[in-house]
Amino acid sequence: MPDSRVPRPRRFLVCEPRHFAVQYAINPWMHPDAQVDVDLAHGQWQALISAYRAHGHSVDSVEPVTDLPDMVFAANSALVLAGRVFGSLFHAPQRRPESTAYETWFKAAGFDVHRPESVCEGEGDLVPVGRYVLAGTGFRTTREAHREVQEFFGVPVISLQLVDPRFYHLDTALFVLDDGSGGHEANIAYYPEAFSPGSREALDRLFPDAVIATHEDAMAFGLNSVSDGHHVFISPRAEALAGRLVRHGYVPVPVDLSEFHKAGGGIKCCTQEIRS
Ligand code: ARG
Repeated sequence: MPDSRVPRPRRFLVCEPRHFAVQYAINPWMHPDAQVDVDLAHGQWQALISAYRAHGHSVDSVEPVTDLPDMVFAANSALVLAGRVFGSLFHAPQRRPESTAYETWFKAAGFDVHRPESVCEGEGDLVPVGRYVLAGTGFRTTREAHREVQEFFGVPVISLQLVDPRFYHLDTALFVLDDGSGGHEANIAYYPEAFSPGSREALDRLFPDAVIATHEDAMAFGLNSVSDGHHVFISPRAEALAGRLVRHGYVPVPVDLSEFHKAGGGIKCCTQEIRS
């Protein structure tokens, strides 16, 4: 077991859940009659931000906009690599205005923003790891957008087919444990059944030492986690996965975002990484 996992400080962008609610249903987790406990949601989100800061990560915040209840899911706003921002174009009309709100923040912070031509939901479906960007498709982000991402960044994009509507974004089925920047081999954790057979095989070839999650882990949003290379911010309900992570030398930091699961989101969904 590796004994020298090294955390790398990250810069995150988040959005306070001031207007968070479940008002429409654009994934199987969402039931518009579900009651969201607004205070509980806010407390859970605050706990996530506190956990990030306590572990040395910096957190910027974008101003939430009324009538955009899903804007809290900052991961969908963009993919940022080497200070270059590839923005978003949402599948659902209800979420489309979010792109502009985030673009305004990025521009004010000194970034140019490239607007995709095809539906693309940011880090929800685009996951940089090692020398590649893993890219999900099937429910939201299109293959055409994958091609755009490759042209824009000049980084090889590996398209992965998602097959289960409950795992509609790549970041509900897979997350990066180690991005390969600190000398460790790049590695991921994932739930194989969320992918087509060919995509599963491709993942197995790329990451033979990946940590495999159970169905229960996936249903508990355990794959919607954030790792800094040592600490893994993870749902406390993903027990089997947390145990496996410990055996691989990682330190799980449990953060419960159960109110956000009602919208189909978790820890990673609430977190956009700004890579400089
Ligand atoms: N309700 C949102 C949607 O369906 C949840 C987004 C979750 N974000 C994520 N990165 N998986 O679009």
